[in-house]
Amino acid sequence: MMLPMPFRTIIEPFRIHSVEPLRMTTRADREQAIRAAGFNLFALRSEDVLIDLLTDSGTGAMSRDQWAGIQHGDESYAGSPSWFRFLDSVQELFPFKHIIPTHQGRAAEKILFTAVAGPGKVVPNNTHFDTTRANVEFTGAEAVDLVAPESSEPSVEQPFGGNMDVGGLDACLRSHPGSVPVVFVTVTNNSHGGQPVSLANLRDVREVCDGHGVPLFLDACRFAENAWFIHEREPGQQDREVRDIVREMASLADGMTMSAKKDGLANIGGWLAMNDDELATSCRNLLILTEGFPTYGGLAGRDLEAIAQGLEEVVQHDYLRYRIRSTGYLGEALDRLGVPVVQPAGGHAVYIDAGRMLPHIPPLHYPGQALAIALYETGGIRSCEVGTVMFGRQPDGSERPAERDLVRLAIPRRTYTQSHMDYVVEVCAEVWARVGELPGYSIIEEPPMLRHFTARFEPVSSTREAATPAPEG
Ligand code: F0G
Repeated sequence: MMLPMPFRTIIEPFRIHSVEPLRMTTRADREQAIRAAGFNLFALRSEDVLIDLLTDSGTGAMSRDQWAGIQHGDESYAGSPSWFRFLDSVQELFPFKHIIPTHQGRAAEKILFTAVAGPGKVVPNNTHFDTTRANVEFTGAEAVDLVAPESSEPSVEQPFGGNMDVGGLDACLRSHPGSVPVVFVTVTNNSHGGQPVSLANLRDVREVCDGHGVPLFLDACRFAENAWFIHEREPGQQDREVRDIVREMASLADGMTMSAKKDGLANIGGWLAMNDDELATSCRNLLILTEGFPTYGGLAGRDLEAIAQGLEEVVQHDYLRYRIRSTGYLGEALDRLGVPVVQPAGGHAVYIDAGRMLPHIPPLHYPGQALAIALYETGGIRSCEVGTVMFGRQPDGSERPAERDLVRLAIPRRTYTQSHMDYVVEVCAEVWARVGELPGYSIIEEPPMLRHFTARFEPVSSTREAATPAPEG
């Protein structure tokens, strides 16, 4: 049921129950901290961060009822009541036959791709998240991104900019007969601006998969945010409950991977689900090797309780209205400043187009990394590069610029207030005013995979010297 909304201000639908102090720092403190961290924001101590927008994963605030659930956690090794509560609330939204709990999303990915992928196999996705791609490639398979072509222009507003390229998927399945073990759709499309996928697109993808006899899985980390966008933007969906939209999304798929650290509203957890009995057996056998017994996976009973309660809260309309509005608020404020942001804002994050904001820095000097470092040094904001640092290193060892150099400001759930966001906007304005002075960076040390987590950087003085003047205002 829709309640009338007589006031413009959409308030946080909660009061604050316990608080965590933030440690104030100076610019000098931060310059020293980031240098010591090899200019990698992942290597900072989080105490040295003021507003942590590195990720929305596992960083949200739990509710009173989730904390109460933690007290109900039953730590029996097998068949705990906490497991059954978890199972019921997962299947209430995602009625798949087999639910396999894992300690987080990537564990579900690792198990699934170990079971179905391997050399010679191809896995299409609208856009793979970095751990998903890494887990596909680790088996020797190829990960192919097939985002709808109209979504690739970041400045053009798309209501469902995360959609899959249905024609491209059909062509991919035709050219790799028998080699595609599963098709994935990521909702929302995190690595493509956090943009949602429509029900219409999911139905079209389903039809193509059926035509080729290939199963469809959802990477459903942000399923509730995606369903809210469907509720708000897709014709004919406005009177539906979000939980019904979620069930319809699930009904179009044969299985899913999930990180409960996002729309599970929990600090840890995830699951793998499917209808196929044989696949479930091989996945459970792998689960036992690394995660644990099938009624707890990699989780404590108390974690299962927190997730079960989180799933009830995350589909509530008051929560989702506030959640999506708070992300839009930040995106609109940055847009008003003239900062190039992916429009409309994603569900969980605002993405700044650093390639366009810092055109004086060439892609292989990492404009996204340069912007992320500047936001930290200026105001203690930790963000995340989603661009050439994250995606530039190819499986054959070569390096090439990512399609886009974005910086993600991910908003933890129920954690920061509007005044925190106003501060973020002010810091962005300050960086924007002297953007032409920012140096590029080079990598001086990197691991063979997922380099963005541990690479070390150094400023490139030539980019600072070659810098163009800052824009007016
Ligand atoms: N799939 C998507 C779309 C994700 O965004 C993530 C995690 C995962 C899978 C893996 O889940 O972290 O529980 O193992 N995304 C986080 C982020 C880390 O910051 O976007 P996980």
